[in-house]
Amino acid sequence: PEATKPIMSSTVTPVDAEIDTPTDGPLFPCNLISPEVISLLPTDYTIRPMRRSDYHRGYLDVLRVLTTVGDITEEAWNQRYDWITSRNDEYYMLVVCDGADQIVGTGSLIVERKFIHSLGMVGHIEDIAVEKNQQGKKLGLRIIQALDYVAAQVGCYKSILDCSEVNEGFYVKCGFKRAGLEMAHYY
Ligand code: ACO
Repeated sequence: PEATKPIMSSTVTPVDAEIDTPTDGPLFPCNLISPEVISLLPTDYTIRPMRRSDYHRGYLDVLRVLTTVGDITEEAWNQRYDWITSRNDEYYMLVVCDGADQIVGTGSLIVERKFIHSLGMVGHIEDIAVEKNQQGKKLGLRIIQALDYVAAQVGCYKSILDCSEVNEGFYVKCGFKRAGLEMAHYY
């Protein structure tokens, strides 16, 4: 009789592989999160570096309070996340989670390396968003304070951002002041 082919067996099913994602660590070291900011959050809330699995915790939904995001598949998310991970001394993206481990706020710091100012580094604060029904709890302020802390720790001499007039008061409360004028060229 014809020999039966051995059936390949594996202890790692695709489902296990998905749960045990080796790349689901923090985007950047957790000691760059200000302990003071953590202590000032509402009870049960956390602030931490972004993770790959944040796709499933509502990261993109929170960003939708800011602008259009588009339909982003998990595969496309993972591709972009992995690109960002390979530049994790440049992209510092953090999230605030509520007691149910859902993302309710986000913010990013992009660190630019310059030649001027003796090889100075400038932080660019981008994409600050707090879920609508969580606004007014100082979460936006905590996100900015946390990004300021990262910027100072990694050696930036300043951080800058662009915002609309309606948000000027918020950033003034966070310690920023109006400086210069934003210009844009869309492609
Ligand atoms: N104008 C004036 N003051 C404000 C504003 C505002 N638009 N928003 C908040 N504040 C004040 C608050 O009253 C508070 O003052 P207080 O200390 O006297 O009580 C202080 O600023 C801190 O407010 P938070 O509670 O931390 O603000 P919140 O958590 O609601 O976050 C944010 C503010 C991020 C602007 C939020 O409303 C949001 O997500 N808006 C939609 C998205 C957006 O516009 N993001 C900013 C884009 S610009 C950029 O990303 C660089």
